[in-house]
Amino acid sequence: MLAQTAGLEPVARVCCKRRAPDAALFIGSGKADEIKALAAETGATEVLFDQSLSPAQQRNLERHLGIAVNDRTLLILQIFAQRARSHEGKLQVELARLQYVSTRLVRRWSHLERQTGGAGVRGGPGEKQIELDRRMIGEAIKRTRERLDKVKKQRRTQRRQRDRRDAFTISLVGYTNAGKSSLFNALVKARAYAADQLFATLDTTTRQLYLGPAEAAGSAWGGRTVSLSDTVGFIRDLPHGLIDAFQATLQEAADADLLLHVVDAANPGHPEQIEEVQRVLQEIGASEVRQVLVFNKIDALTPGAQPLQRQDLFELEGRPVRRLFVSAHTGEGLGELRQVLAEAAAQAAEPAPELPIIESTEDLDSDPDGGFPHSHEAAA
Ligand code: GTP
Repeated sequence: MLAQTAGLEPVARVCCKRRAPDAALFIGSGKADEIKALAAETGATEVLFDQSLSPAQQRNLERHLGIAVNDRTLLILQIFAQRARSHEGKLQVELARLQYVSTRLVRRWSHLERQTGGAGVRGGPGEKQIELDRRMIGEAIKRTRERLDKVKKQRRTQRRQRDRRDAFTISLVGYTNAGKSSLFNALVKARAYAADQLFATLDTTTRQLYLGPAEAAGSAWGGRTVSLSDTVGFIRDLPHGLIDAFQATLQEAADADLLLHVVDAANPGHPEQIEEVQRVLQEIGASEVRQVLVFNKIDALTPGAQPLQRQDLFELEGRPVRRLFVSAHTGEGLGELRQVLAEAAAQAAEPAPELPIIESTEDLDSDPDGGFPHSHEAAA
């Protein structure tokens, strides 16, 4: 899916098991020969590794296979370069790319430019890098960092202003493609970019969301505007340079009062995706922020797999977390979600809150391996 998002067309997939990566080729030479034959047979123009390759491994593999070899890190960097929209986002990606290229031979980039046909990189930083020697890359890194610092300072000021307005802030987090942007749109009726691609959203988008008195029914609270942010999607093995680079963007999540952790309930791999998101949250210092799990895309579940109830508790790292089942597409469950947000905002507004959010603990779901224990299937 990463390859497709980058505009490539996968033709074959090769898996191999090794106790440790080979220092020179990453894989064994027999496997490399096999891949070479397969590439010739399928007419592949590029071989992608789902792991990070060292600069030497990449060079050796290219020599051995006779075609371009790229790794997961570069692929993600390329996608990020295509997607970045804001000034800050572009600078962040540029910095991560410069750092990546500074460890590799400059020659590689000329090769890469031809290979990718310039999807989003034509005329971009990649082309310029062809002429850059290491020293110049070093200077470029320094300059980009300075420009980024300036933009970050502005962002901090904006955030302080927002804090002063005392807005209750909610950040959407989740594995890439979980449906964060769709949910964001459904909640605020704005139009953020939602596509069946990875990392459709790179820049944080923030909108005000009015939770009316209807949602605050039963409390003394008469409706309030909260601020809702859509953030970059998380992914397994997100290159470290990118986590650093997107620290500022991800900081939105760490500073939020509440995290809506969006999960693609229709994806069988969702338990691993939840773990991965938790890992990134930990890394950016957001693991202590209160979470509500939003299991999205219930419209895509088979009738037998539908949850019997729209809300329950889910055990997340030993702690019970409120879980809601919704569909951003059909709007199912969004009323309940708004209600939960209103309650959370109301509690934050009241200085001595009693937290009657959870009415019963009977439904505690301690099955992190997926499946919905309250679904018809499980009941059957
Ligand atoms: P990134 O920007 O990559 O992090 O993705 P995202 O989490 O913002 O996901 P996005 O909203 O772009 O949605 C990803 C895909 O899932 C799109 O094709 C959406 O149409 C689809 N999708 C989102 N919500 C739902 C839903 O409730 N039901 C179904 N069936 N599909 C959905």
